[in-house]
Amino acid sequence: MTTEDSRSKLVVLGISGGIAAYRSCELARLLVKAGFRVQVIMTDYASRFVGPLTFQALTGRPVEVGHGGTLAQAGMDHIDLGQEADLVLVAPATANTLAKLACGMADNLLTTTVLASTCPVLVAPAMNTRMYANAITQENLLKLLNLERFFQVGPDDGDLACGEFGPGRMSQPEVILAHAQRLLSPQDLAGRRLLVSAGPTREAIDPVRFLSNRSSGRMGVAVAAAAWRRGADVTLVAGPGVVEPPEGLDCVRVTSAAEMAKEIDARALRQDAVIMAAAVSDFRPRRVGRSKHKKAEGAPDITFVRTADILAGLGRKKSKRLLVGFAAETGDPVPAAIDKLKRKKIDLVVANDVSQADAGFEVETNRVHLVDAKGVESLPLMKKIEVAERIVDRLVGLLPKRKSRRKRR
Ligand SMILES: Cc1cc2nc3c(=O)[nH]c(=O)nc-3n(C[C@H](O)[C@H](O)[C@H](O)COP(=O)(O)O)c2cc1C
Repeated sequence: MTTEDSRSKLVVLGISGGIAAYRSCELARLLVKAGFRVQVIMTDYASRFVGPLTFQALTGRPVEVGHGGTLAQAGMDHIDLGQEADLVLVAPATANTLAKLACGMADNLLTTTVLASTCPVLVAPAMNTRMYANAITQENLLKLLNLERFFQVGPDDGDLACGEFGPGRMSQPEVILAHAQRLLSPQDLAGRRLLVSAGPTREAIDPVRFLSNRSSGRMGVAVAAAAWRRGADVTLVAGPGVVEPPEGLDCVRVTSAAEMAKEIDARALRQDAVIMAAAVSDFRPRRVGRSKHKKAEGAPDITFVRTADILAGLGRKKSKRLLVGFAAETGDPVPAAIDKLKRKKIDLVVANDVSQADAGFEVETNRVHLVDAKGVESLPLMKKIEVAERIVDRLVGLLPKRKSRRKRR
């Protein structure tokens, strides 16, 4: 979901009275940054933890507290927000508010809004670990989650404000944002399994030195995250230094090209699509030194050999699985991409010229050409998260159609 897609969506951010309310300031900021219209409703208790003015400043909208009233002055009824909302996000969700929601109570504007809404409701519980483990809280949560439109994110295990340790800490704001975006995105990859590789590999020269490349893994991670938001079951195979996506999708860490090949081969058969965005080293030193090569020994004489071509290997065992490859070239990447498409039996090649300062390695933007059997589509300079959405759009178009009736996670 790009910022453009979020632009028209209204997220009602409900804040109940837990110590984690201060972390919802960051959540409100992230939601606004992602392009959502954010209307904050605080319970009376929440307003004792953080002042409404903070949220008003972060969202640019008056904040409703307790039974509300600010919007009523502008002619809005107590049920209007529930009707207008695309998502109600309760973060933090106290044990008390969860209990009220599970009973269908409507004794403040937040609970009234949830009851009057028809959109998805995402709750981010945060409380003392014994309060969370209490059978009553668990029963309340279960009751809500059994309803089609209620979803939960977290809580995490960790040090709690009360000094105890265990489950009860509100999820990280970035994680809550990702789950909110997933609920608001089209679920056109629901029920699909995708394997995505990202980042560089490292080929050891000796115990301290290696051969690698400048890939940051941002493009692959952006594709994995975009596919996850659109409902796919995603496994990311990530090389060294790749920042893990906040979504909590399955992430397998590898170092060398051989490790990457092993992890991908072990999973490829079960996938609907494999997207090889990693910059896998084409060569590795024939021999790896057992000890550090000393300066005094002079420049090492290194012989390189080819690593396994993962994509070509997958192409040979193709079946119905879709294969997406990346072609990073210095200069016009399209001829090499067309050649790669045919030679390796790939369905889509994402080609880019990495000699440009604003596209390719280590930057947030990319300028790519999408090459498939029908031809070449050249996209303008875009943020990598936007390029990722376009790649996922193509993937959806290429996958055989089927219906999924699963509840979204
Ligand atoms: C200092 C303090 C911290 C609290 N933290 C939490 C919390 O993290 N989670 C929770 O469920 N309740 C917590 N409570 C209890 C709630 O504030 C209390 O249940 C309140 O009635 C919640 O009201 P609300 O759900 O309408 O916001 C805390 C209370 C105090 C005094």
